Order: sequence, then C-alpha cells, then structure tokens
Amino acid sequence: MRDTSCPTLLFIVGARPNFMKVAPLFQYLKRHKESMKPFLVHTGQHYDKAMKAAFFDQLNIPEPDIDLEVGSGSHAVQTAEIMLRFEPILDRVKPFAVLVVGDVNSTIACGLVAVKKNIPIIHVEAGLRSYDRDMPEEINRVLTDQLSDLLFTTERSAHQNLEKEGIVLDKAHFVGNVMIDSLRNHLNRAVPFDETLKLHKVERRETLREKQFALLTLHRPSNVDNPEILKGLLETFEMISSDLPIVFPVHPRTGKMIQEYGFSAFLELPNVFCLPPVGYLEILGLMTSAKLILTDSGGIQEETTALGIPCSTLRENTERPITVDQGTNTIVGSARQKIVDCVDEVLKTGGKSGRIPEYWDGHASERIVSTIQERFL
Ligand code: UD1
Repeated sequence: MRDTSCPTLLFIVGARPNFMKVAPLFQYLKRHKESMKPFLVHTGQHYDKAMKAAFFDQLNIPEPDIDLEVGSGSHAVQTAEIMLRFEPILDRVKPFAVLVVGDVNSTIACGLVAVKKNIPIIHVEAGLRSYDRDMPEEINRVLTDQLSDLLFTTERSAHQNLEKEGIVLDKAHFVGNVMIDSLRNHLNRAVPFDETLKLHKVERRETLREKQFALLTLHRPSNVDNPEILKGLLETFEMISSDLPIVFPVHPRTGKMIQEYGFSAFLELPNVFCLPPVGYLEILGLMTSAKLILTDSGGIQEETTALGIPCSTLRENTERPITVDQGTNTIVGSARQKIVDCVDEVLKTGGKSGRIPEYWDGHASERIVSTIQERFL
C-alpha cells in the first residue's frame, strides 16, 4: 500500500542523460528522509540495456515505479505516445509536482501533460539556450521553461535567457549542477579504461596507454543523419587517429547511420577502438584517462570542465557557454581544419585548463530539495 500521508514528487526520466541528473536527487531524499516521497516514471524513450539498465544499477536509482515503454519513433510519435501513456499515471498518483530534467522529448511530453492538469512543473537544468532551433532539444528547452513553475539553473547566464523570454525571474533559482553532484559521488568508483576495453574484448587494446588516446562520442542528428557531414567527420577522425588513437563508444543511432551509409570501414581502422555504448562508471573511467575528448554531447561538455580535461565540441554552438568561458571546452563545429587545429593545440600545449564554475560543488541536489520544500510544503 502506498503511503498517502506524505506528498508525492513525481520524477520523469526517459533518456540516458536524464539518469545522472535524477540520481543525486533520489539519493539526497533517501538519506534525509525529507517530507516528500519520490515516485519514478521512466518513459522508455531509451530502452537498450546499454542505454538504460547499466545506469540504473550503477547510479543506484531504484527500479522505476512505472515504465511507459514508449520506445523509438519520429519526434511526433514519441512525444504523443509518452503523453498518452503518462496522463492516466498522473490521475492515479496525484503528485504535488512533476520534476523533469534536461531537454529530451520525455521532458516536454510529460511537462505538457502536467500543465494541462494544473500540476506544478519543476525543471532542473532550466534556461540553457543554444539559440539554434534546428536542434530538437532547443525547442524542448524553450517550451519546458515556459510551462514550469520552478526553474533550477546550472549557470547564471541562464537567467538572462529566461528573462528575455518573459519568464518571471522569481521562479528561477541558481543552484549549480546536479550532473556534477553525480560525477563527484561516483568518481572514485570509475572503472579503469583498460578494464572497460577488456570487458568488451576490444582488439589491440594492449597498445593503448593512459592519456595517450582521444575519447570520441557522437550522436547528434545534425552530425550523424547527413551522409556528407558524417563522412567528413569520419575522415577527420581517421586523420587524427594516425597521431592519437581514438576510443569510440558507438551510440545506437550513430551505429545505424554508419552502416546505412556504407561507412563501416571506419570502425575497422587500426587506430580506432570501437565499443558499444558504455555505462556511467565506464564513461567516467574513459573520460579521466583520455588526453582529450571529441564530442557532440551536452553533458560531456560539463563533465570535462569539472574534470579539467580538454574538450572539443563537434557543434557550431553550445547552450552551456560557461564551459567555454570558464572551463576546458572549445567549440570546433564539423569543419576539418578547426577540429584538427584544436587537437594539435592540445597535443602541443596540453589545451585549456579552465576552472570549476560557481556552485558545481556537489551540493546542487541539496539546494534543490530545500527550495522545493520551501515553495510547496
Ligand atoms: C536523445 C535525446 C538527446 C540526448 C540523447 C542521448 C531527444 C530529442 N534527444 O537522442 O537530447 O542527447 O538522447 O543519447 O530527446 N535507439 C536504440 N536504442 C535505445 C534508444 C535509441 O536503438 O535505447 C536508436 C533508435 O533507432 C532511435 C534512435 O536511436 O530511433 C534515436 O533515439 P532517440 O531517443 O529518438 O534520440 P537520441 O538520438 O538517443
């Protein structure tokens, strides 16, 4: 029987980058037995074992109370399916608020359902803007912030973005970065890079040395869905790999596109070491052992800044400008020369060293929970 005396806060997760954002909030609530009860809904946007189960186990997130099992589809299908399946859950659970994180389709889909039922929405990682509306996440960010009653931000620039969009700033609180809470909580359990390569039986792995390889992650539609852009990027990585070996955990979307466009030879190159998507403790180990990171991920830009590891971001813009202004991040886009120059610079000088941004101190969850209590309970 559910305990009905304690108000329920309903958490949404859907895709891989959500898991490390809710984990520290859950752990904080568990440790402090606060006056609210967490209820976890997984939409099932990501469902592969490698994209989901490994994260729940390693981050110590309880099994979701409900898995909506929506799976993949076009943006419209995926978003609509989440909405249809989430609505009856809200009627049944009756939470005092719905907490969503980040900018994935599950975030906006569940936000829309909640707002139509007059249930307050709490958005963690609010106010980030790339100002690039071709990016599906940008639409999700703008709309989710418009719907939200309480907005938690990771950097101060987010407040200017919110103000420009007419959002009342009293609703926004600068609390720091929950993803960095997770990083700090788990860093001492990171799996050594050679163990991860061994686990996945990566060939020729014995030739790789600590701080003598680049880590590559790539999954954004703008990079992998267009054959010309993808081909150009893979050729650039091939060039780089002759000076610096590349370790490449392949996202399912990227793997599919590489096969479909006939670029599989890249995966067989002697200095490119491929493996399936890895869990959280494995990616932490790969990041800390890498000389530099080439990525189009949002979260990795922040994690590398927190770790002080040079990051070259394979995008034309970032919604996380603090990682460039204060951290180790350089925006290099997809043009060959810029990427190669940035890698050369790191090899010659060690790259940007950066500093840890304000409030990325491992206590963001604490600030979030106490603000929620003040506001709602
Ligand atoms: C989603 C998020 C993106 C985030 C990324 C992290 C949106 C709009 N995008 O992108 O912000 O950075 O997650 O991974 O929400 N697939 C599988 N197995 C899975 C999941 C996906 O094979 O478990 C394949 C399917 O072919 C699917 C494709 O990957 O169609 C894309 O998955 P989807 O969830 O739509 O978006 P991502 O590219 O993963």
